[in-house]
Amino acid sequence: MRTHYCGLVDETLLGQTVTLCGWVDVARDLGGLCFIDLRDHEGIVQIVAEPSDVDGNAAVIEMAAHVHYEDCLRVTGIVRRRQSVNAKIKTGQVEIVATTIEVLNRAEPLPFHAHENPGEDIRLKYRYLDLRRPEMQKMMRTRIALVQSLRRWLDARGFQDIETPILTKATPEGARDFLVPARMHAGEFYALPQSPQLFKQILMMAGFDRYYQIARCFRDEALRADRQLEFTQLDMEFAWVEERDVQDATEAMIRDVFHEVMNVELDNPFPRLTYAEAMRRYGSDKPDLRIEMELVDIAEIVKNCEFKVFADWANQPEGRVVALRVPGGATLSRKQLDELSAHAAKYGAKGLAWMKVEDAAKGREGVNSPIAKFLDDATLASIIASAGAQTGDLILFGAGAYKTCSEFMGAVRLKVAKDLGLVANAWKPLWVTDFPMFEWDEEQQRYMALHHPFTAPAVDDEADLRANAGSAVSRGYDMVLNGNEIGGGSIRIHRSSMQSAVFDLLGIGREEAELKFGFLLEALRYGAPPHGGIAFGIDRIAALMAGTESIRDVIAFPKTTTAQCLMTGAPSPIPDAQLAEVHVAVREKEKGTL
Ligand code: AMO
Ligand code: AMP
Repeated sequence: MRTHYCGLVDETLLGQTVTLCGWVDVARDLGGLCFIDLRDHEGIVQIVAEPSDVDGNAAVIEMAAHVHYEDCLRVTGIVRRRQSVNAKIKTGQVEIVATTIEVLNRAEPLPFHAHENPGEDIRLKYRYLDLRRPEMQKMMRTRIALVQSLRRWLDARGFQDIETPILTKATPEGARDFLVPARMHAGEFYALPQSPQLFKQILMMAGFDRYYQIARCFRDEALRADRQLEFTQLDMEFAWVEERDVQDATEAMIRDVFHEVMNVELDNPFPRLTYAEAMRRYGSDKPDLRIEMELVDIAEIVKNCEFKVFADWANQPEGRVVALRVPGGATLSRKQLDELSAHAAKYGAKGLAWMKVEDAAKGREGVNSPIAKFLDDATLASIIASAGAQTGDLILFGAGAYKTCSEFMGAVRLKVAKDLGLVANAWKPLWVTDFPMFEWDEEQQRYMALHHPFTAPAVDDEADLRANAGSAVSRGYDMVLNGNEIGGGSIRIHRSSMQSAVFDLLGIGREEAELKFGFLLEALRYGAPPHGGIAFGIDRIAALMAGTESIRDVIAFPKTTTAQCLMTGAPSPIPDAQLAEVHVAVREKEKGTL
């Protein structure tokens, strides 16, 4: 149908006849002389229809004069040097003098123009038009290049790509399952996998040694910029390993892939932080190390001060009081401070005290703060010194229960850094390790697995784990890049008795464990090697590489934050007859959106 791509026509083709296919990007009729910018996936080239004595020339001009935006054309013509070079496009040195123009399909007036950026709802409804835009093509290609590069790396090192079932039994990763009714087993359901976790572990027991899969995962949870109901993992598992084996291999992989796809050299080695240190210094288990600011504990300094909120939390064993120095932050307006305070409140803060250091040499006189009156001179000086604040800086304060205080101050750190342009233009990866094994759920009055229930504890002894469950550390690890959790994994439990003990601690009784995970407990008894692995969020890495905030930009057909596909209209009602076939009835009062 065509001999060349529009975007690749260049000077090597001067004088040659080419046939191109593409969309009309711009059409200009100057009265008997027409210019068309023809676009395909490679780019744009200029077509000219001009008067000549060649037979049929009038028809060509007539045709060119009546094309419209996004019509599909096939054009044959001769490549010649362009008089006015367009340095902005790859093909800017040349143009094609049309000898025939064929309209392969007309386009009706479009809902939006490629050069506009209409609301996301419109873009998602007409996703095919949205994806035609060069900006979207570029982002999707970054994702494709990422996946190609990962596969090349893994294939070259003997990792085996094995598919695992989509119709399966629940694999818990902390979200709700998507269920599929089983027609052949009335009243029974398959679950879509939240991840291939159990299958990949069993593949290690089955002797495959090194596994990977570009795996689709399904989690019925609240959608956000970095979360979709279905998303893609690079899922990996290794037999006969300890955490450093998995970490060293995958760190090298990520470094190599960033080099290949982005021409970026990531740190070697990646820095490492324990969970406790990450929370203490950055108020986050996925710290953004592009921001230098750190939280500084000041409980010791304020424990006897007259500001009751600080003194109270400073004297509680579970409490925390921190200061955060914001370089140059004294310029923040009252409104900006109120916004920060409102942001902190979303993360559980009861307030966000602040202090502007307007002149560090003047002591109390140089400070502007609603809490200064509660602090004596020595305390004030000590706070400023600990925070390292200088003239022109702002100090923000948080007080509260350890986790809440850390998290709201972590969130404030991110926001204020963004507001003031304090985020360095850099790539900052790291490992976060030594996560707590369990988290106490107040509502359910039971422990929850911080990673998933198959993660090994650092202690080898079950009695030891039972005795110290609250403070137990796991063998889990996360890879973080620029404040995003891009991968998470762990060394797994490989002994049946330890797995039973962990189920027990999670409040999963013997019977329930047998019912849900009997196959795993049994497999662990027949010679399961020590094993571990990790899964990377492909969508998140692709979004970071493409420089976009939302993973929706690197997913061809994403769902909205209300969990719908606006193009196809999914989800949609199903006729009763079809529901009956799968033994399902919908309760009338529950129809529609909840
Ligand atoms: P985890 O649940 O941490 O671990 O997931 C691994 C990585 O997948 C990405 N991710 C997501 N991306 C987009 N939308 C979502 N809803 C979403 N949820 C997670 C993140 C995350 O780091 N089976 C374990 C892995 C293992 O232990 O080997 C697991 O799924 O980037
Ligand atoms: P108040 O005396 O309650 O008006 O508080 C004085 C200042 O302390 C205000 O700027 C509050 O935002 C701030 N504040 C109150 N509670 C906290 C807290 N838990 N952590 C940090 N700042 C707080």
